[in-house]
Amino acid sequence: MSLPRRCTYAITDFCFPERLTLTRVLEFAQEFKFEDDDVMAVTYPKSGTIWMQEILPLVLNGGDLTPIHTIPNWDRVPWLEEKRLALVVDKLASPRALVTHFPYSLMPPSFYTSKAKVIYVMRNPKDIMVSSYYFHQMAGFLEDPGTFDEFMDKFLEGEVLCGKWTDHMKSWRNSALGDRIMYITYEEMVQDLPASLRRISDFLGRNLTEEVIQKIAEHCSFTTMKTNNMSNFSLVPNVYMDSDKSPFLRKGTVGDWKNHFSSEQLARFISVISKELEGESFSLPWSLD
Ligand code: A3P
Repeated sequence: MSLPRRCTYAITDFCFPERLTLTRVLEFAQEFKFEDDDVMAVTYPKSGTIWMQEILPLVLNGGDLTPIHTIPNWDRVPWLEEKRLALVVDKLASPRALVTHFPYSLMPPSFYTSKAKVIYVMRNPKDIMVSSYYFHQMAGFLEDPGTFDEFMDKFLEGEVLCGKWTDHMKSWRNSALGDRIMYITYEEMVQDLPASLRRISDFLGRNLTEEVIQKIAEHCSFTTMKTNNMSNFSLVPNVYMDSDKSPFLRKGTVGDWKNHFSSEQLARFISVISKELEGESFSLPWSLD
């Protein structure tokens, strides 16, 4: 299999910048021992990862705000693929919540035999691409995205953080996890966060009162998260994430692609994505055009 050209570190067609992920870190991830009550949020980048880092601890602990006010999101719900996991894993409250951008095939062996649950967050790929374009501008560990048109080519060829969106999505949509996996869309979370929280809570076997659901929704809103220093990446030095170029919590809306895509770009995007999804047994929750 050919490797995406611009990846500094790649396994098959999945890529991470070398500064983020080194071989020994991936080895650590592969050795990670899942527990049956672990909960894993899985996303393709820019689909709502940090949103789930805010939501999961609150749903699992019945709405206690302490973790989101005292622990930065990367330690609160750590990344399976980052070396910090080794430092914080013993401090995680049980049941543990983790996140990953790994495709299904790169999950550690213990994941497949455990009963750990997965919440896979999907987002319309056109909005993902726009969000990713700005993220590539502000993240010092990623290549400059070039023009929007150039970035579209890279995105469609999978020469961006975590490779092709279609590969990632297919790997998790076709997983053999049965009722261990729940799919939710960024769009339904934007449209009705309390209803999404009820779905998540039911899936995780929590029995949250309506009062707690409303409290969690309030604290996980875009506006509140934007002002939470434990969640908005303001603790990260500018050299890694420069919010003057673009804030991490940028717009938090559905359909920003309409402000960025030309009709030619839309046609190109739809043509490539539709072709790659041909013959798949699942359908997308949104129309591509
Ligand atoms: P935009 O760039 O479109 O604003 P990830 O965490 O996977 O990198 O995804 C980042 C995207 O999720 C950004 O999208 C960010 O603004 C959005 N996001 C994060 N928290 C959100 C919230 N509470 N409500 C709506 N969008 C949120």
